[in-house]
Amino acid sequence: MPTLEPIAPALLPWFYKNARALPFRADPTPYHVWVSEIMLQQTRVAAALEHYRRFMQALPTVADLAACGEEQLFKLWEGLGYYSRARNLQKAARIVCETWGGRLPASYEELLRLPGVGEYTAGAIGSIAFGLPVPAVDGNVLRVFSRLYNDPGNIMDPAVKKAFTVRVMEHQPPAAPGDYNQALMELGALVCLPGGAPQCCACPLARLCRARAAGTQLGLPVKTKPKARRVQPITVLLVRGPGGWLLQKRPDTGLLAGLWQPVLFEGALTRAQAAAALADLGVRASLGGALPPAKHVFSHIEWHMAGWYATAAAGTAPAGCAFAGPEQLRAGYALPGAFKVYKALMTGGSQG
Ligand code: ADE
Repeated sequence: MPTLEPIAPALLPWFYKNARALPFRADPTPYHVWVSEIMLQQTRVAAALEHYRRFMQALPTVADLAACGEEQLFKLWEGLGYYSRARNLQKAARIVCETWGGRLPASYEELLRLPGVGEYTAGAIGSIAFGLPVPAVDGNVLRVFSRLYNDPGNIMDPAVKKAFTVRVMEHQPPAAPGDYNQALMELGALVCLPGGAPQCCACPLARLCRARAAGTQLGLPVKTKPKARRVQPITVLLVRGPGGWLLQKRPDTGLLAGLWQPVLFEGALTRAQAAAALADLGVRASLGGALPPAKHVFSHIEWHMAGWYATAAAGTAPAGCAFAGPEQLRAGYALPGAFKVYKALMTGGSQG
């Protein structure tokens, strides 16, 4: 297939006019680009903006991130999900301090060696912060190229991704690799939308787009369907004691590792089973009214939660648990977004 006419001359002016205010764009230092690109993976721009602001206020340098305590780190990450991203950020920050004197290396290969930094992130930091001529190919860019070239290759296939990346680089202007990479992502996020929604009439590349010419854009990109998520019923108990609500620290490995949660048991327990499980945990409490059900979708699993309020007679928490008052719940403990409904009940709601 002949290569396409250069896309950068139409793409870059469009980008300069339409670029969104992403967290790092006012001041794209390597640290700023790194943290925001990690936040933006799996998180909407609007949700990441406020987290980014708080994060940079609390931890303005790589050294601050390397030195901060786990509880503070998780509190700053609270609500963003995929908490292993925060752990990896800190691990990498410690390596950057020990190996690179606190400055991220201006090398794609060295960036790739850092925990949590894959090809996309290394390419984004390399091109945006250091001006290196490297690709940063995310799902948006794959969709744009699948349509531009009217290519039915399955974008989940690593060989197809590699071939698309070669094409992305054929069009990259050496003087503006970061702007070009971001312009492609922006085009995918704002115009070349997934499913039935591409805005071809607003697209600066419409004249060059082979899918548009062939009328195939709605069927592209081709992508294997992700596996169906497993549904996991969960029983939640909001246990109130004299010193506040009872929280449990999750195990150090697995889903939501090391984060805090209300007392929780896997499975849809009956009221009697829940009372017995609570007693097994070492908590003497009586169960009260039912909690509203809630659902949380992780990448590979869905939690369907339900449960009861409970009242504990004593204020001593068993090992691995703690009683937290409303202020500690708000400012001290990181409760994942999965428990949003229940956190609201503990911090503001009344007991049923
Ligand atoms: N989404 C995530 N990172 C981005 C970037 N650098 N530019 C545009 N969209 C993005």
